[in-house]
Amino acid sequence: MANVSSHFDTGIGDGDRETGLVLIVDDNPTNLGVLSDVLARAGWEVSVAKSGQKALDRCQLIQPDLILLDVMMPGIDGFETCIRLKDDAHTQDIPVIFMTALSDVENKVRGLELGAVDYITKPFQQGEVLARAQTHLRLYRLQQQVKQNNIELEERVQQRTRELEEAMETLKSTHLQLVQTEKMSSLGQLVAGIAHEINNPINFIYGNLSHADRYMKLALEAIAVYRPLAYQAVGSDVMPELDEEELEFVENDFPKLLVSMLAGVDRVRGIVKGLRTFSRIDESPCKSVDIHENIDSTLTILGSRLKGMGAFPSIEIVQNYGDLPQVECYSGELNQVFMNLLGNGIDAIHQRYHEQLEHQETVVPGRIEITTRINPNGRACIAFTDNGCGMSETTRHKMFEPFFTTKPVGKGTGLGLALAYSIVTEKHRGQLVCDSQVGEGTRFNVHIPTTGFTVEANKADADGKP
Ligand SMILES: Nc1ncnc2c1ncn2[C@@H]1O[C@H](COP(=O)(O)OP(=O)(O)OP(=O)(O)O)[C@@H](O)[C@H]1O
Ligand SMILES: [Mg+2]
Repeated sequence: MANVSSHFDTGIGDGDRETGLVLIVDDNPTNLGVLSDVLARAGWEVSVAKSGQKALDRCQLIQPDLILLDVMMPGIDGFETCIRLKDDAHTQDIPVIFMTALSDVENKVRGLELGAVDYITKPFQQGEVLARAQTHLRLYRLQQQVKQNNIELEERVQQRTRELEEAMETLKSTHLQLVQTEKMSSLGQLVAGIAHEINNPINFIYGNLSHADRYMKLALEAIAVYRPLAYQAVGSDVMPELDEEELEFVENDFPKLLVSMLAGVDRVRGIVKGLRTFSRIDESPCKSVDIHENIDSTLTILGSRLKGMGAFPSIEIVQNYGDLPQVECYSGELNQVFMNLLGNGIDAIHQRYHEQLEHQETVVPGRIEITTRINPNGRACIAFTDNGCGMSETTRHKMFEPFFTTKPVGKGTGLGLALAYSIVTEKHRGQLVCDSQVGEGTRFNVHIPTTGFTVEANKADADGKP
């Protein structure tokens, strides 16, 4: 028997009326009929199920906006049906209203505990049924709207974060490039300027030394010839302050003096050549070079730091140069890499020296070994091994990050390795690999193709081991 009383005033104006698809689940056909009728007349689309199982099956096919669920049914009862609805992601958000007897407090509480949003009591009050159905439908739709808004908001936040991260990366790399360009060009210009200024006078001296030698020999020969004649003519020595022994000494010593002057000038010419190689004056950015010349010129620039200054003892450089072919590269920038790696090695040796003094340990002489070879995959490998302080695991992880430095403020910018990394990997499609142990030292391996470091040429080489 249907328990329905016929008050139709829901207290909700027509303008506020929410309707949607309601699923009524009841094994009592009369209840189903009456509730369907009431809700359909109020504008709802109605679907019915006569058991819990049928309701669950129906929910796989349609997505109701609201479920009115009877508690007492054969087969799975209303509670079990509710549990399964809430267990399924597809149906868990659909609001469930239990239909229960007026006095059945226990069932009402149980239903609410299982996730139902409300209950209506039998005998049904039409107005109450409609009012509750509409209220919960509105709440459900508002919740869905809030959920959707949250998803959209989250997406927008993520999108913005991505854009900001990209902008930050671009900013960092632009800054890095600017610093790199500035560092490169100011150092390059300085070096090129010095090389140019020294080059002319030193060549002038070099060119004139051989003439000086020839003129002096002539002058000495002339003295030797004219001296006895002068003595005969005037009856005494015209140059009493220059005796025979001294003349002999000048005669013997002058050629040696010239040899040592020539050696000095040769050294200065070597330094100038190093400076010119380093700055690559008048050269196109990418060309075939002898990498060993580049390393040597960088060592020339670093000469004073290697020689030992003040408290710091000198650092030994061991050059294990292998048989390298000419390497096609951006020579000036590769010098920058060598400069940074060697500079870091020197700093690390200085730091270890300090630590040894502080702990009153025996000072181990600083040493940097430079090894070059061709790898089996045809790449050139240049390894720089120092016996400095080494790196902790944290430093190893962060060393290539721009602005990461462990050096005191004002001493390190933290850009050296970031620049070196980008020059080796991006500009030359190579690899920069580091191996380091605290207290033992550090090795950096630069691997670069000897020729054609274009993207295409390197695709074939992509899985080549260092
Ligand atoms: N050979 C090395 N031995 C030990 N630590 C090293 C070595 N090379 C780099 N590091 C560590 O990596 C950090 C980053 O090096 P990077 O060259 O990028 O910057 P920096 O030397 O601190 O400053 P700068 O920009 O002046 O070169 C260094 O501060 C140092 O802690
Ligand atoms: Mg550095």
